[in-house]
Amino acid sequence: VAETDQWQHFPRLHDRYPELGTGPVSVEPYVSAEHFELEREHIFRKSWLIVGRVEEVAEAGDYLAIDIDVAKASVMIVRGRDGEIRGFYNQCSHRSGKVMRAGAGQCKLLQCPYHGWVYNLDGSLRGIPDEKGFFDLDKTQLGLTPIATDIWAGFIFVNFDPEPAEMLADFLGEFGTALGDYPFDAFADNMAEWRVELNCNWKTIKDAFQEPFHLAFVHHRTIGGIYANPSNPFNYVLDCILYARHHSMSQPGSDTPVEPQGLAKVARDFGPAEGQHAASLATGAKEVAYTPGTNPTRNPNWDVDLHGLFPNVTMNSFAGGRYLINFLWPLAHDRTLWIARAYFPKPTTAGELFSYEFNKVFLRDILMEDVAVVEGTQQGMSSGGKTLLNLHEQEIMVRHDHKVIGEIIRRARDAQGG
Ligand SMILES: [Fe+2]
Repeated sequence: VAETDQWQHFPRLHDRYPELGTGPVSVEPYVSAEHFELEREHIFRKSWLIVGRVEEVAEAGDYLAIDIDVAKASVMIVRGRDGEIRGFYNQCSHRSGKVMRAGAGQCKLLQCPYHGWVYNLDGSLRGIPDEKGFFDLDKTQLGLTPIATDIWAGFIFVNFDPEPAEMLADFLGEFGTALGDYPFDAFADNMAEWRVELNCNWKTIKDAFQEPFHLAFVHHRTIGGIYANPSNPFNYVLDCILYARHHSMSQPGSDTPVEPQGLAKVARDFGPAEGQHAASLATGAKEVAYTPGTNPTRNPNWDVDLHGLFPNVTMNSFAGGRYLINFLWPLAHDRTLWIARAYFPKPTTAGELFSYEFNKVFLRDILMEDVAVVEGTQQGMSSGGKTLLNLHEQEIMVRHDHKVIGEIIRRARDAQGG
């Protein structure tokens, strides 16, 4: 099929968003340490950030302690005896010791390991060893410092701004409405997680998850043949929606999928191997869990959505019911902690168990193909050999991030008088 036919069958994404422009964009946001410091202050210390899910703190006393380098902070999420989920700075009122080591756990009280100050699960100060040696302490004022915390669709968010400019619901806007009913909780019991420190800017890896335009190339050994096909050789998307800061696009499957050997065999012998398009087709069981935000065009050949939740989260919701979420946590302007979590349904048979486990490692291989290009891309951008990126029409979500982030940083620089 000629390229002109392809243009006729898929929407021209920029037609609806002419304000994005079509010119090249700068590599500066990926390589500048000064830009990164502005992102730290004006994006990461001002935005709502996902730190976990409610299922991770299901019972009273369950806690998460999370180091967030980009905010120069550690936070604690704790489920109280009253059932409330609260967020605090992970910092003791005595001498700022770190109350809980990073990780998850269950406790009756929170005790700082440095000098033993003890806090209740609601953050109030309970006890001070050798209290008589301190001077005029007002214990009612010395609880843990709360941090703005809210929940959407089971995801726990924090905001480092002492007075957030907007509530979580306003921050999420229509994106939150579109995806709010997605059954994230149905997959909470079957999750695979990978953590990788990458030598690249957080946006370099985020960009890789915001377009399926690279599938035929980066992923030609794995999923390239599932998606790319003669009628859609470059994986054009069915639709794309840009919200104020967040965005989503829908990707079709192939009508003539070339299945990787292993995947096809697993699907046939152990199905239903939910998720992978070829696997779903092979078993003839392509169940879909539509919510307003998944497959917005209701295309029967839909396979997966790519969502970008500003600033540092991408999510894929797959036909057949499962999702992948990527957290891009900046460590420095050229270093990122990438946490990928793949959520599957709870298996009900041994065959499903095998199939899901196979799909997890298959997904890991796909993700490693993405990793293989991002560090080299960062090196290229850092080299100074070229200073501009030339974005394709299908890379509209990458361009959208440039616009959103560019406007925030421009305002910050203007305020600095620079
Ligand atoms: Fe990829």
